[in-house]
Amino acid sequence: MGYYKIAEADSIKPGEKKSFPLRSRMILLVNVGGTYYALDNRCPHMGGALSGGDLEGATLSCPRHGARFDVRTGKNVGDAKLAFIHVKVGDAKVFPVKVEGQDVLVELD
Ligand code: FES
Repeated sequence: MGYYKIAEADSIKPGEKKSFPLRSRMILLVNVGGTYYALDNRCPHMGGALSGGDLEGATLSCPRHGARFDVRTGKNVGDAKLAFIHVKVGDAKVFPVKVEGQDVLVELD
């Protein structure tokens, strides 16, 4: 438990995202309007890599079945779709983020 450096503060511009390995996890770091948010890169539905999804504002879509998440909270804001079936999906796991100087730090549990 504690904060760990994940990236340099200017390495991800507003509207961009990138995944990083951090202590045996893949963490997706997202910059929304200059504020960083960190999520588990694994979609809570079937493990799709959220880093491959589309980011619109603070909403990230899973590339596998389209579930959507608010990256600020991890809250699910749109169902997955498998063929014509809508499937409820849980929330994405998020992690606290802080910036110290040029370092972006993520707290892992
Ligand atoms: S794996 Fe993400 S919506 Fe299915």
